[in-house]
Amino acid sequence: MTDAAAPETTRTSYATAQERSQALEKRIAEDPSGLRVLTGDRPTGALHIGHYFGTLRNRVRLQDAGVETWILVADYQVITDRDVIGDIAGSVRELLTDYLAVGIDPERATIFAHSAVPAANQLMLPFLSLVTQPELERNPTVKAELAAAGRSAMGGLLLTYPVHQAADILFCHGNVVPVGKDQLPHIEQTRVIARRFNERYAHGEQYFAEPDALLSEAPTILGLDGDKMSKSRGNAVMLRMSEAETAKLLKKAKTDSERLITFDPEARPEVANLLTITALASGRSPQEIADEIGDKGAGTLKVIAADALNAHLAPIRARRAELEQDPGYLMSVLRAGNERATEVADATLAHVREVMGMVY
Ligand code: TRP
Repeated sequence: MTDAAAPETTRTSYATAQERSQALEKRIAEDPSGLRVLTGDRPTGALHIGHYFGTLRNRVRLQDAGVETWILVADYQVITDRDVIGDIAGSVRELLTDYLAVGIDPERATIFAHSAVPAANQLMLPFLSLVTQPELERNPTVKAELAAAGRSAMGGLLLTYPVHQAADILFCHGNVVPVGKDQLPHIEQTRVIARRFNERYAHGEQYFAEPDALLSEAPTILGLDGDKMSKSRGNAVMLRMSEAETAKLLKKAKTDSERLITFDPEARPEVANLLTITALASGRSPQEIADEIGDKGAGTLKVIAADALNAHLAPIRARRAELEQDPGYLMSVLRAGNERATEVADATLAHVREVMGMVY
């Protein structure tokens, strides 16, 4: 993430982010008061086990550790790199269902959507005045998204969405942002915006605190074909799948012809991936599982993986099935979250306008 050409203000190193992340973990364990988690997802459909083991489980852990939790359904970000918005309401409903099924508790967590909180979006205007075009164009994650979308021209929202993300985080004074490595440039951009806002508009008052990324320790899960796990590639175990669908998908997973099962992520990524999934689902180590299977081959590994995963997901899936029956409840959760977020965003925007002298 280090960019040698970047000015001091935007330069960051993974090591520094990791140190800050570790300090945060310590604070969470000792006394989480004063910490506020803000995180979110683009609503593009139902979630898979990569989302679950990579981020969702961690969010539930933070919530249960007593950290105040805000979760954003980032609907405006869906249109950063695609023209077709699709069935956004359906995608939002799927996302909400998965959130609640895995254990996000709407009594403790605030779940809300971008488009329903106008004051938070309005922060984007003063924030845009604090960043430069080269700074935005340098963001490696934005560049990668442009390339992945297969486009030559950068859309205005794609270029500026990290600033929008700063508004997401800062409107509610989120100070803990649990993210993967790819989101670090956005967190750094948010820190820069907070700092510049305080200096330039708030006359040195530390109105916006600089948030920290909380880097996940969870190993990355690959798709069952060895590529990145993604619903559109058909290589993902979705939380919403049945046990039979899960077993069938795992049976087709790519492996190798070596009968002796060993945990070797470098040389045997697909076999290692199945062992990792089994380990995450059963709370055991991948090596232990490999030793147990020995020379019984990949067929046995796949059955063990499916069984472990289905057992782990059973309560989540049962809850999911119940929630699916009650779309009215799901929407009431989102509406309550939207209201709470709007109250906080209104107060923040009022303060911002005040320090900027824009009160008439
Ligand atoms: N950009 C994030 C993603 O693509 C989603 C997101 C939007 C987000 N706003 C956020 C994540 C604020 C953390 C904090 O996954």
